[in-house]
Amino acid sequence: MRRKLIAGNWKMNGRMATNESLLAEIQAGLSQPACSIAVCVPAPYIVQCRGLLAGSPVDLGAQDVSAYEAGAYTGEVAAGMLAELGCKYVIIGHSERRAYHGETDASVAQKTVRVLQTGLTPIVCVGETLAEREGGLTNTIVGQQVDAVLEALGAGDLEKLVIAYEPVWAIGTGKTATPQMAQDVHAMIRGKLASKDAAAAAKVQILYGGSMKPDNAKELLAMSDIDGGLIGGAALKAVDFLAIISAA
Ligand code: 13P
Repeated sequence: MRRKLIAGNWKMNGRMATNESLLAEIQAGLSQPACSIAVCVPAPYIVQCRGLLAGSPVDLGAQDVSAYEAGAYTGEVAAGMLAELGCKYVIIGHSERRAYHGETDASVAQKTVRVLQTGLTPIVCVGETLAEREGGLTNTIVGQQVDAVLEALGAGDLEKLVIAYEPVWAIGTGKTATPQMAQDVHAMIRGKLASKDAAAAAKVQILYGGSMKPDNAKELLAMSDIDGGLIGGAALKAVDFLAIISAA
């Protein structure tokens, strides 16, 4: 049995005061969670959140990372910096970064390798647009996104990956993939991983993301290849995030 992971992606939200109250409420509401939990916060707040999460079962993550180790890359944040600040996870290739910041399958693969080399856990995001789904291209597009990462991995890396399937049309829209729609894509992804290394593929957590909420989390998380959630909007409300954690 894979342990489930519920990870909040705060995106570009938060302020010092609201971060403090949100994390206080989340921690106060947790009683012996049965799943792993993380919050991926904006980079400037990582240090603050590390302090607020000291001794907590909630792990810390970042939302992006540089593909490079160090050097003349103005504005970028290195994986080594994130590790030093106490991050465990890094989201890579979120569809918002692919759409607005020119991230490609190649850059996502490069960042994934860098993060693994640094000892952090990448949460690699994949997913199709509405036009791609309607054109019957879901498996092709998601398959290509997964393959680009698989081709770049070194021996022993596969089992250290977390993958998040986030259909772009379901993000922030209130439209969720049905549990079966999500399960079908998750199974396809696991099949791809298994063709590289079946034993490692069985260990990889594949998260679903896209309008996961308290009222749909249980059904989604009940599917055999859905190993958790990457939560946007509902991660910004303690009651909702806690309800999703309970559903896992
Ligand atoms: P929403 O849960 O707001 O749809 O966002 C999902 C997401 O993009 C998480 O990374």
